[in-house]
Amino acid sequence: MDKSDSKYKILFICLGNICRSPAAQGIMEQMIAGRGLQDRFMVDSAGLYGGHSGSLPDRRMRVHAQRRGYNLTHLSRQITGKDLETFDLIVVMDRSNLQGLQHMKDPVNEHKVVEMARFLRHHPHNDCVPDPYYDGAEGFELVLDLLEDACEGLLDELCKKTDQQ
Ligand code: 4NP
Repeated sequence: MDKSDSKYKILFICLGNICRSPAAQGIMEQMIAGRGLQDRFMVDSAGLYGGHSGSLPDRRMRVHAQRRGYNLTHLSRQITGKDLETFDLIVVMDRSNLQGLQHMKDPVNEHKVVEMARFLRHHPHNDCVPDPYYDGAEGFELVLDLLEDACEGLLDELCKKTDQQ
């Protein structure tokens, strides 16, 4: 059995897989490593739109993330039907991502899909992680604030859940 088969697998989804979801992946990977949980969790990210496939994250996202100590190296890829089978949890950034997944989901894996904002603990007024692509620096900073908050909430929840199994 592949070693990753025993890990709990999390897939972050956004539209282009060059801003929000690769940042979520980088933050979550660092959080997992910081808590010494690499043997329990595996993280990846993908986009609904495949137009940026093969590209590094948007330069603005990389610069803002680097300032907080995250080195984003993921190469953009489009989500596949197999991802919905492989991953245990599929975390979308906004309602439009959720709608974009509708045609791919089947009743078997429907329960795996959740919105990132559900895990926010310190940003009660945000109901999504908004697309920063057409925003300025403050949009990228907001995304990172929200992702750090939600990743912590998500990891705490998953640790509790998987401890009980
Ligand atoms: P992301 O941001 O979904 O957070 O990666 C976007 C990236 C690219 C585009 C839109 C949003 N785009 O239209 O190309």
